Amino acid sequence: MNAATTVDLIIRGGTVIDGTKAPRFEADVAIQGGRIAAVGDLAGYQSREIIDAKGRIVAPGFIDSHTHDDQAVLSQSDMSFKVSQGVTTVIAGNCGISVAPLRPDMDLPAPLNLLEAPAGGRFTTFKAFLDALRATPSSVNVAAMVGHTTLRAVTMAALGRPANEQEILAMRALVEEALQAGAIGLSTGTFYPPAVAATTEEIIEVGRPLTARKALYVTHMRDEADRVMESLEETFRIGRELGVAVVVSHHKVQNKRNFGRSQVTLPFIRNAMQHQCIGLDCYPYNAGSTMIRTDRGMLEGKVLIASSVPHPECAGRDLDDIAREWGVAKDEAARRLQPGSAIYFLMDEHDVQRILAFDETMIGSDGIPVGEKPHPRLWGTFPRVLGHYSRDVGLFPLETAVWKMTGLTARNFGLEGRGTLKAGHHADLVIFDAAHIRDAADYENPTVPAEGIAAVIVNGAVTWRDGRHSGARNGQVVTRTVEETTA
Ligand code: ZN
Ligand code: CU
Repeated sequence: MNAATTVDLIIRGGTVIDGTKAPRFEADVAIQGGRIAAVGDLAGYQSREIIDAKGRIVAPGFIDSHTHDDQAVLSQSDMSFKVSQGVTTVIAGNCGISVAPLRPDMDLPAPLNLLEAPAGGRFTTFKAFLDALRATPSSVNVAAMVGHTTLRAVTMAALGRPANEQEILAMRALVEEALQAGAIGLSTGTFYPPAVAATTEEIIEVGRPLTARKALYVTHMRDEADRVMESLEETFRIGRELGVAVVVSHHKVQNKRNFGRSQVTLPFIRNAMQHQCIGLDCYPYNAGSTMIRTDRGMLEGKVLIASSVPHPECAGRDLDDIAREWGVAKDEAARRLQPGSAIYFLMDEHDVQRILAFDETMIGSDGIPVGEKPHPRLWGTFPRVLGHYSRDVGLFPLETAVWKMTGLTARNFGLEGRGTLKAGHHADLVIFDAAHIRDAADYENPTVPAEGIAAVIVNGAVTWRDGRHSGARNGQVVTRTVEETTA
């Protein structure tokens, strides 16, 4: 008999769900040099480090398709709110908001100020941001996009109008710089005040460099309420004109009068998918979270204050109660609480489930890693889909749930060598207990780690084990260059 092969780590006796939607199978997994060395019956392998995964699922590490972790990966680099859920890679720079490029002295309009670093570190180029991340890695891998709202803020003297030709050229040059540095795409957030005035043409012209690099166009659409269909049309048109794949961020239909409209949006998206590359993501909650807004549409339902700069003591409180106490209208109370972030109950549970269950929907948290009372999605998204929606509600099989947070996401974002569990791929893995996995974070206690996650491995390093962070900071910057995607 041959001598045993020695590797860095062996995960023994687990049930593999490989991220392709294929049925689960029993297998050992060997890890060597940050990569998966072998998958199968590995009785002939040995290692000083062995994880017993008997009775547990071994899956590719989850990829959070929608995050605002751009600053957190530097300032909260343990990333416990993500690794504790099994997340090993985050897509940053969403909703038009990126932390680079910015000038050191400029004032940041909301929502850009939501992600301001506590230490105030700013990056004047996208390359400087990625270099900082390479120099001081976080516990998760990061793929980042450059945000159109950030580009507007850094380029334009006044944000309340469409960009002129010179400003478009300046923004386009910054998109090119970001892509060259390793950005995987451009995001927009035309829903937000600093980008509302941007026309479709402005976005197309600013996004021109995406075409040659086959980079992505990702959007928090102009309107997710009454004009959601027009917004989808605009998004798809931008993708067609640039010849690039698009991702519709956190797809939803909000406000009571739009409840049920996912029955119209989803077939429309499915039909458009036959002609162009389209992805979409969704978080598993019927409440959203963003900056504190004062418009009637956003204040229609229950509103919980997540954070407030002038009134930090209001975090976690219901806006109606605050307004009553202050003796003012709801919108006036909201105005006094700005700047800050809030949680808005504006969705119908049936729409949320319909969108989650749509084949092509990826899972993304959209968590905002700020303050003590964030939306529970920051800590609970992935276990909530696996436990609540897949196991308890029965929305889809566990294999499908895993695929929606691994293989599908890696495919849509072009993340080579991640998202599926097979030999040669990066050793990003999560081991969990399918019967007990559960999101423990709720609106009252939103920063509680999930239950049922046994171990999380990032590029071969055990990063989370039995409820504790190991201290490992083994994340990489994941880029998407033309050379790499064809390699
Ligand atoms: Zn958004
Ligand atoms: Cu977002």
